[in-house]
Amino acid sequence: MAGDDEEMIVTPWEVAGRIDYSRLIKEFGTQPITKDLLKRIEKHAGTLHLQLRRGLFFSHRDLDWILDMYESGIRFVLYTGRGPSGPVHIGHMIPWIFTKHLQDVFGSKLYFQMTDDEKFLINPDFTLEKTRNFAYDNALDVIAVGFDAKKTKIIMDVEDAEIIYRIALKVAKKITFSTIKAAFGLTESSNIGIIFFPAIQAVPCFLESELTGENVPCLIPAAIDQDPYWRITRDVAPKLGYFKPAQIHCKFLPGLGKGGKMSASMPETCIFTTDPPEVVERKIWNAFTGGKPTIKEHKLHGGDPSICPVYYYDYYLFEEDDDKLNETYMKCRNGELLCGDHKIMLAEKVKKFLKEHQKKREKAKDKLDDYLFKKK
Ligand code: TYM
Repeated sequence: MAGDDEEMIVTPWEVAGRIDYSRLIKEFGTQPITKDLLKRIEKHAGTLHLQLRRGLFFSHRDLDWILDMYESGIRFVLYTGRGPSGPVHIGHMIPWIFTKHLQDVFGSKLYFQMTDDEKFLINPDFTLEKTRNFAYDNALDVIAVGFDAKKTKIIMDVEDAEIIYRIALKVAKKITFSTIKAAFGLTESSNIGIIFFPAIQAVPCFLESELTGENVPCLIPAAIDQDPYWRITRDVAPKLGYFKPAQIHCKFLPGLGKGGKMSASMPETCIFTTDPPEVVERKIWNAFTGGKPTIKEHKLHGGDPSICPVYYYDYYLFEEDDDKLNETYMKCRNGELLCGDHKIMLAEKVKKFLKEHQKKREKAKDKLDDYLFKKK
């Protein structure tokens, strides 16, 4: 488990240690989301989405420029994705829920990439058939988020190779091995597929431009772990005559254990979108909290919501109402709210959310063709 004392590592394939988001902004060379920027977004949205209001989306590149373009009448496309390596967890849903909000506000077209090739190349045990199956399964979760079918295309890297490969070649020709090696920490023993792969993840940034012959700006909502891909893509873009893709980065939803992001590699600390209610209850019941070891001590000294995943799930996803959230914070802090009771309250909210999501996921099975870039 990623503990607090481990060295901070944030790459697309590994996240470990206590994440210092201010340090990441400096090291990755991104910009913090300022109050002014929030005001500009609020002007268009009419309200500030929970994930912006609470600082979950915290960093960006060229978001101000995207808004300039939009305000001058130039449309932009959205781009996000998933590396299908197993079932989807609620951490993955964070950037997707936010992307849906942006699609609603700005009416943007969305390209959603399924990198079945990436996961095949990274995981020694995966066959192409396995990652393909995960991709189709995960697409149901994407559709269940509620994206506009008329404006959303899900691209499957392997099956849509015909369109992707031609653009990837143009990108790849502008990137050297030493750049990829440094950005992704690859070594001489890395397989050559993964050396080429960043060119594939760059493709959807330029897809709309390639398909329409216009230069169309692109905005990518994702967690900050995907940033190395965008650094490279931004260097290549002007060389191909395209705008640099803009980004808006979110923090990681923590797992239910002590420290670390929610990660499918630790399934007991992870809530999958397909988990049945009794499994959700068990996982939340076993969660680490910021509470004191005994009820007596807890009531006397209070808990610490700042290290508590149970509180964080309310904060990031499940408690819309800022006043109610504040009340929960205060009651945790002064020991009035016991961790067991808080866990039961959270489990009810998560079960309700998943019940709805699972219904939509079932219905999505009949809608796949409406969303796929290339129909089955
Ligand atoms: P993947 O499948 O690792 O993750 C999918 C999306 O979820 C984000 N994410 C999280 N967000 C919040 N909390 C967490 N605990 C958490 N864990 C993962 C990731 O940042 C990502 O946005 N290579 C990519 C697939 C991809 C992609 C893209 C992602 C292709 N093109 C464009 C974003 C944007 C991958 O393996 O994502």
